[in-house]
Amino acid sequence: MKNIIIKTELLCKSFISDGEVNNVIKNMDLEIYEGDFTVIMGSSGSGKSTLLYNLSGMDSVTTGKVFFDGDDITRMKEKEMAKLRKDKLGFVFQGINLIPNLNVYENILSPTYKTKTDRSEIEKKIDILLEKMELTSQRKKFPNQMSGGQKQKVAICRALINSPKVLFADEPTGSLNSSQGQSVLDTFTNINKEGQSVVMVTHDLKAALRGNRIIYIKDGRIDGDLNLDEYDEKSVLQREEIVYKFLKERGW
Ligand SMILES: Nc1ncnc2c1ncn2[C@@H]1O[C@H](COP(=O)(O)OP(=O)(O)OP(=O)(O)O)[C@@H](O)[C@H]1O
Ligand SMILES: [Mg+2]
Repeated sequence: MKNIIIKTELLCKSFISDGEVNNVIKNMDLEIYEGDFTVIMGSSGSGKSTLLYNLSGMDSVTTGKVFFDGDDITRMKEKEMAKLRKDKLGFVFQGINLIPNLNVYENILSPTYKTKTDRSEIEKKIDILLEKMELTSQRKKFPNQMSGGQKQKVAICRALINSPKVLFADEPTGSLNSSQGQSVLDTFTNINKEGQSVVMVTHDLKAALRGNRIIYIKDGRIDGDLNLDEYDEKSVLQREEIVYKFLKERGW
C-alpha cells in the first residue's frame, strides 16, 4: 500500500473575469501517492496549471480541501504555509521568475536561507546541480544574461536545492532542446528513485513515459487515470504504445 501524500476533496477553483465565472477545476477528488512520479496531461486550458497551483498551496482554492501529508493546507495560515512550501515543496512553474538582481549561484542558494542544513553541504550540492545541468560556467551570470532554457534549468536547480518531499513541475522541458530536456528528466527520475515524489505537467509523450501514473484532465475533471506500475515488465516500446493509446482515446 502506498502512502497518500496529497489528497483533494471536492476541489473547485473558479476565476471571475469580465463579470463571468469560469469554473476551471470542478469537484475534483484526487489522491497523489508518496514516491510516485505522477504525470498530469490534458489539452491546453483544461486546468493543469491551475490544479498544480492548488495542490501546492501556491494559490487558494475556491471551495473544497487539499491535504498535504494529512494536514488541510486550505486552513493553514500564510506563515505556516510558507514554511511548508520552503521545507517540503519544490516548484518549477511555467514562466517562473528568477530573482533578477541575484546571479545564478545566488538564485539557487536563495531557498536555503534560514534552513538548518550545513553551509558546505549546500555549496557541494549546488556544484553538483550546476554540473548536471551544464551551468557551471554560468554561475556568476544574471537572469537577463541567459537564454530561456538556461533560466529554466536554474529554476530547476533552485527547486531541488532543499531536497523537497514533492517536486511540482509545470512543462519543465518546454523551453529546452531534446538533450537538455533529457538531462532534466534524468534528474527527475533520479530524485524520484531516491524517494522524492514528482508531480509533473507535460504535453510531451516521451516526458510522460518517465512517470508511473498518468492523470488526464479534461475541462477541469479527471478523465483518465493510468497506472503504469502494472506494466513494469513490459518493454519501453510497449509502455509507449499503452500510453499513446490512453491519450489518443481521450483526444490528445
Ligand atoms: N489567474 C487567472 N485568472 C483568470 N483565469 C485564469 C487564471 N489562470 C487560469 N485561468 C483560466 O483557467 C483555464 C485553465 O488554465 P490553465 O492555465 O490551468 O490551463 P492549462 O491546462 O495549464 O493549459 P496549458 O496547457 O496551455 O498550460 C483557462 O481558461 C484560463 O484562462
Ligand atoms: Mg499550463
